[in-house]
Amino acid sequence: MTSAPNTQLQTEALLDSEKAPWWRQAAVYQVYPRSFADADGDGLGDIPGIASKADYLAELGIDAVWLSPFYPSELADGGYDVADYRNVDPRLGTLADFDALVAALHARGIRVVVDIVPNHTSDRHVWFEEALASAPGSAARERYIFREGTGPDGALPPTDWESMFGGSAWERVPDGQWYLHHFAVEQPDLNWDNQEVRADFVRTLRFWSDRGVDGFRIDVAHMLTKDLTEPLPSKAELEAMPRDGRHPLIDRDDVHDVYAEWRRVFNEYDPPRTAVAEAWVDSSRVPLYASAESLGQAFNFELLEADFEAGQFQRIVRDNLALAKLSGSSTTWVLSNHDVVRHPTRYGLPHPERDADGRPARKHGNEWLLSGGMQPVLDRVGGLRRARAATLFVLGLPGSAYLYQGEELGLHEVAEIPDALRQDPTFFRSPGVDKGRDGCRVPLPWSEGGRSFGFGDGGAHLPQPSWFALHAVDVEDGRPDSTLTMYRRALALRHELQTDEELDWIDTGRADVLRFARPNGWQVVTNFGTEPFELDRADVLLASDEAPLGIVPGETTVWLAPN
Ligand code: NOJ
Repeated sequence: MTSAPNTQLQTEALLDSEKAPWWRQAAVYQVYPRSFADADGDGLGDIPGIASKADYLAELGIDAVWLSPFYPSELADGGYDVADYRNVDPRLGTLADFDALVAALHARGIRVVVDIVPNHTSDRHVWFEEALASAPGSAARERYIFREGTGPDGALPPTDWESMFGGSAWERVPDGQWYLHHFAVEQPDLNWDNQEVRADFVRTLRFWSDRGVDGFRIDVAHMLTKDLTEPLPSKAELEAMPRDGRHPLIDRDDVHDVYAEWRRVFNEYDPPRTAVAEAWVDSSRVPLYASAESLGQAFNFELLEADFEAGQFQRIVRDNLALAKLSGSSTTWVLSNHDVVRHPTRYGLPHPERDADGRPARKHGNEWLLSGGMQPVLDRVGGLRRARAATLFVLGLPGSAYLYQGEELGLHEVAEIPDALRQDPTFFRSPGVDKGRDGCRVPLPWSEGGRSFGFGDGGAHLPQPSWFALHAVDVEDGRPDSTLTMYRRALALRHELQTDEELDWIDTGRADVLRFARPNGWQVVTNFGTEPFELDRADVLLASDEAPLGIVPGETTVWLAPN
């Protein structure tokens, strides 16, 4: 550890002064390290780059930073293909740089959450290299899921299962066996029946906890354990099976044995380390992941699939606050992350077609991306206006808010990435039917001018569009109407106003206007429609856009002071 003793003292003072447990209503800012800030000018963001922006993060007013993977990786899936779980990618820095970053953030009262990717490793992980070099049936292969193929000479995959990124979920190795990969070919699934696998992840959790990490985001938390009893079911059979905890592949009850062991490890620390599950499961099963015996918190992704529409927002808030009560955890609000089209763009596009469950029939924004984003269908100004209103709505809710880098600048999705420069495996494996997730991962603009808008001296690993200049930090900084100023003010106020995790809806007499009050009287009013809404009070603390006295204009949120 490199933190100096005086930094340590300062850290404890700052962190102890916060309400425990810190995470319940935290604003957590997701950093996608390769696209945040590049200190060494190689075109890839890095750990010293993040540390150089510690003051920016402190000024933003967040409680914690969640770092997407920064581990050694071939970048077959943006770092979610981890080659070594207890190290830093040399292109991003060293363990000493990581320690310095943790110290810098802790010194500013900001907690640190790191991403753990336990469903699969990279195919460059030493275990997988060992598995390939070892014979079928060997202990090295047992850490993964290898099977014989089907057909007369085993040339067909063991099943017709598909990878989440498209194509078969099985890949053949030279000796004829096949291995399972639910994501990219370069991401072989681990075998969670294997005790060595389990023990190694406990070691990883301790490794980062001992270095001062405050919590963990658990990737694909619902897919680790699998029942692969022969004969393996077909894709159609799998789809027909209920997701009731006994499904062979998804959301099995026995995954919580893994998390119960992790929880005992987390609780060895003071304060206990936290964890949040990335679990795309039926909402009735979310509390299992969020319970204090399991990971402690789970992402609620429903807003990622919702339109900017009052009825949908209210239903999602009601349901998720009720679900949080079932687990005793707090819920989480997410409008953007590294896997989805940024929310100003989603809200600037026509509402997507919905399937029978009310979900967008296709990934929202994909068709627009497919056309290169060139049609005039995107309403940039309206999309950002709605996004700002949605953000202030969400920041007023009880629970944790997860923010994604660049949303504080009002960035839209970058559609205009030439195919030849795309990186995301979903683009290559679909192939090309899904434009993939690169458009929300373009390096941030820090300055209006200069090489790569201040991201670094060596250019940017994904091309930045010219309109990034309008959103650069140095352009938005200090401007009263900028999105950055709105986020800073909202996060500062939220610190002062945050209260018990309760909410009372107030009838507005309009289906397109939502209004709620927190126990201390702090109120949030969002007009999802276009007709102005008249307020009975004038004490507006903050508005997502200009609001004349006593009025909430269309597509605007206002915060009212506690009485
Ligand atoms: C979820 C992550 O958020 C995503 O970026 C990644 O591709 C998959 N898990 C596989 O690790």
